[in-house]
Amino acid sequence: KRVLLLFGGRSSEHEVSCLSARSVLAAVDRERYEIVPVGITRDGRWTLTDGVVQPAAGRALPEVADAGPTVALVGGADGARLVEVDERDDTARVLGRIDVAFPVLHGPWGEDGTVQGLLATVGVPYVGADVTASSIGVDKGAMKAAFAARGLPQGPYVSVHRRRWSADPQLVAASLEDQLAYPWFVKPARQGSSIGIGRVADRDGLAAAFEEAYRYDDVAIVEQGFAAPRELEVGVLGNEELAVTAPGEIRPSHEFYDFEAKYLDESELVVPAEVPADVAERIDHLAREAYRAIGCAGMARVDFFLTDAGELLVNEINTIPGFTPNSMFPRLWDAQDLAYPQLVDRLLDLALE
Ligand code: DAL
Ligand code: MG
Repeated sequence: KRVLLLFGGRSSEHEVSCLSARSVLAAVDRERYEIVPVGITRDGRWTLTDGVVQPAAGRALPEVADAGPTVALVGGADGARLVEVDERDDTARVLGRIDVAFPVLHGPWGEDGTVQGLLATVGVPYVGADVTASSIGVDKGAMKAAFAARGLPQGPYVSVHRRRWSADPQLVAASLEDQLAYPWFVKPARQGSSIGIGRVADRDGLAAAFEEAYRYDDVAIVEQGFAAPRELEVGVLGNEELAVTAPGEIRPSHEFYDFEAKYLDESELVVPAEVPADVAERIDHLAREAYRAIGCAGMARVDFFLTDAGELLVNEINTIPGFTPNSMFPRLWDAQDLAYPQLVDRLLDLALE
């Protein structure tokens, strides 16, 4: 089978995606699968790579080099083909058929249904959630609404559109104070890896946090924070029948699990987490419910908070969780005796089911 591995992409999680792709590339069973590694540059060009994901010059994290030939997918009645576009004379050369795609892309233009839509349109099966589930999962507002509709426990939150904030910041602040106790976390609605998130301790900090969040999205979600919550996560695999891992715990090296704590410092991952059996059971149940709530398929990582009052809350679902060497998702499966290569195998099988 020929696997189109897509990585990089236009979102601010470009580098994280490159790290994830590097791990996936190293783990794929080359006897079963031929990998066609296509990097998406930050400005959206699809480029055929040699499968080596290099750090950019002078930077700590890798990025897609804008060097290889431009490629595109072309659909057909008998499946899709990858073609190389010669930009000198606008001709195209067929590079062969693609059996399945693995979008190892995080955030907007990759985890949000856009790339899934393209793949569906040209008739390529792909790893992970479909268009609808991806777009609900990536959007914290839509995701929380879907969770609420299914009765899942969540912390208090409010969505604030950029226009509403700009029109009357004092009114927005007062209305938030009526609904949420400080501290707050202000997050762009559609963004991952903690990019654009700010912690707000009082009204003075609100403007800067909104400004940062609105760099990434027109909608910001304001969530009520909790005193020292434990962060617990599980992996889910499956289409109809689901498998859920035991929970793992994140002990962030920073005040919260921000971008640096995720990829640049060593945050401590405790796998399996030390939690009472009834908490683990409830997490298992809620993870399945969260997965079903957005209509997920393939895989997801579901993240929880356990507050100091003992309340278990669903924080979010990630339809393309990180696959970096520091990432929780592959670690969780490894602890269930599903090693990295078997995990990738399983995901490709689920895509072709
Ligand atoms: N968005 C990052 C990659 C994650 O959820 O792991
Ligand atoms: Mg996320």
